[in-house]
Amino acid sequence: MDKVKIAIFISGKGSNALNIIKHFRGNDAIEVALVLSNKADSFGLEKAQKAGVNTVVFNNEAFKKNGEVDTYLRSLGVSFIVLAGFLRQIPVDLVESFKNRIINIHPSLLPKFGGKGMFGEHVHKAVLESGETESGITIHYVTNEYDEGKVIFQETVSVDEKDTVQGLISKIQKLEHAYYPVIIEKTIHHGFNLK
Ligand code: GRF
Repeated sequence: MDKVKIAIFISGKGSNALNIIKHFRGNDAIEVALVLSNKADSFGLEKAQKAGVNTVVFNNEAFKKNGEVDTYLRSLGVSFIVLAGFLRQIPVDLVESFKNRIINIHPSLLPKFGGKGMFGEHVHKAVLESGETESGITIHYVTNEYDEGKVIFQETVSVDEKDTVQGLISKIQKLEHAYYPVIIEKTIHHGFNLK
């Protein structure tokens, strides 16, 4: 049986992308076919190349043009898209054509601290400023609105008064690395709503 081919979209460091690549190395059913970025200087591209995965950089204009990315991914046999720190909105045609086959990870307990502008440190600063005692990760399907698709999985972490933004980032990153690859695998095999 042919393996399910995943494309990972990134814009930055790519720690999740690398972790996902390592998880699926040697897997009989699923493989990471390529890593795409809208930024040529994403550190994640180099990490993926060193791990032996093909990478592609596209410009934002090409990305918005209906059909281009879709046609390209299909020509490679990609059937599942994973967003891992990708900071652009996914074009409508791609969301439609990969319906329920694009997932994202967000570093908060959605619907709290999601939406436009809520990425990276902004999320964790907002969590700390609001005095929340809990934060976490959300893995969800992607729709045309930022951070609004159906939730597949959430996991929490406690936030205490002494936490700094960096401290919270590292707590959340541990959760992301522990769960994202496993949840991707389960979603591909069994569909959503895993907890
Ligand atoms: C993660 O915190 C993820 O939740 C968010 O972007 C960050 C990506 O980190 N969507 P990295 O580039 O994988 O290190």
